[in-house]
Amino acid sequence: MARKTIIAGNWKMNLLPAEGEELVAELKEQLQIRENLEVVICPQMALVPMALDWIYDSVIQLGAQNCAEKLSGALTGETSAELLKVLGCRYCLVGHSERRSLFNETDDMVGRKSQVLLNMGLTPIVCIGESLAQREAGDHFKTIDTQIAAVFSQLDQTDWTRLVFAYEPVWAIGTGKTATPEQAVEIHRFIRSKIKEFAGDVVANATSILYGGSANAVNAADLLGESEIDGLLVGGASLKAEDFSQIIASF
Ligand code: PGA
Repeated sequence: MARKTIIAGNWKMNLLPAEGEELVAELKEQLQIRENLEVVICPQMALVPMALDWIYDSVIQLGAQNCAEKLSGALTGETSAELLKVLGCRYCLVGHSERRSLFNETDDMVGRKSQVLLNMGLTPIVCIGESLAQREAGDHFKTIDTQIAAVFSQLDQTDWTRLVFAYEPVWAIGTGKTATPEQAVEIHRFIRSKIKEFAGDVVANATSILYGGSANAVNAADLLGESEIDGLLVGGASLKAEDFSQIIASF
């Protein structure tokens, strides 16, 4: 079976309600339904309940940007995966590089959050990728290997089939410096080979691996043209309806 293509917009900490509503309204007008394509928006938490109304009657799915490692308890400021489910989220980003670098999220936490989401029936989009220093030191494969191993070691084996990965080289995020399709494909192949080691051929071949990092309306077609790239995680360019629609239309 063909892998699902996922184009997800990571709004990060941007957009007020009126802006989000307008963006989704414009997207709905421009969106063409394509078989095997999932379009996801990931607004900041307080917008999530509103966004469920905005996407009503469309193919757009809702995702969150983060969740807690536990379902409830004394975790001031955190959000439960159970609440995300109740609010209509189907996806949640986990281990975004901003969470890792600014909020000290470790590989093990990323694994635990993924399991909590899977328990709730949500799909974690597990973000992995190397920093510039790691790439320059030739450590990019090792870094990614460690990140993947931590996730698989935390998960119930029965859930291995339900992950989505996003390869986001840290040096490409928000910098306007996109990985070339060749660079992305090289890493995507490596990620798939690692999934194969843990979970076997069938799971590896069925797992969608997205690329993220300065994806935009200009480079989306080249990236999506690669059979190893099963979609995009888009930051800045997902905040403009025209750009995000063009990216979606590039598939
Ligand atoms: P960017 O962000 O597209 O603005 O580089 C991608 C991301 O951080 O997910």
